[in-house]
Amino acid sequence: MSSPGSNLTIRPLQDTDIGGITSLDEKVSGEYRPDVWETRAGYYLRRDPETSAVAELDDRVVGFMLGEVRSGEFGLEEATGWIEVMAVDPAMRGRSIGRLLAEHVLEHFKAQGAKTVRTLVDDEMEGIAQFFTALGFAPATLRPFVKRL
Ligand SMILES: CC(C)(COP(=O)(O)OP(=O)(O)OC[C@H]1O[C@@H](n2cnc3c(N)ncnc32)[C@H](O)[C@@H]1OP(=O)(O)O)[C@@H](O)C(=O)NCCC(=O)NCCS
Repeated sequence: MSSPGSNLTIRPLQDTDIGGITSLDEKVSGEYRPDVWETRAGYYLRRDPETSAVAELDDRVVGFMLGEVRSGEFGLEEATGWIEVMAVDPAMRGRSIGRLLAEHVLEHFKAQGAKTVRTLVDDEMEGIAQFFTALGFAPATLRPFVKRL
């Protein structure tokens, strides 16, 4: 695995990142969704910018991970860090950027009192389960149930 480069910065989310996150999401998803990211990033900024992270290389957003600490949901009373959305620029993958983003986010989850970190993995999304496994995550007993409305 190659090094991400010395100009890489991993830092808390800022409101000025919304444009960069929108561009990166467009690269990954093929959709330009500025309103979605305005709302979504706005939510995490209001909750706690420290528990979300951005990877910046030469003033460009090349990765992000959004999460927060919550408790009382799904019968889980203890404070839990939730990783909810992330992406690394396809051209920059395999260089530890995802791992560095997770390290930042997990450190801040801990600082907010979380003892556990959780996420949901869609098996249809290639590589996500392997990524979290490489980071020490293991499958949990909490399973998503779904019903179409
Ligand atoms: C998952 C993702 C964040 C990984 O980012 P990355 O910067 O390439 O990951 P890293 O280089 O930090 O890899 C960390 C570890 O995970 C493993 N890993 C990462 N991607 C992997 C893959 N596709 N298959 C197998 N293992 C993988 C690496 O091998 C590495 O393990 P190691 O440290 O033991 O060698 C990135 O592939 C991504 O953005 N995927 C798309 C996510 C997406 O669709 N988001 C939008 C909706 S949520």
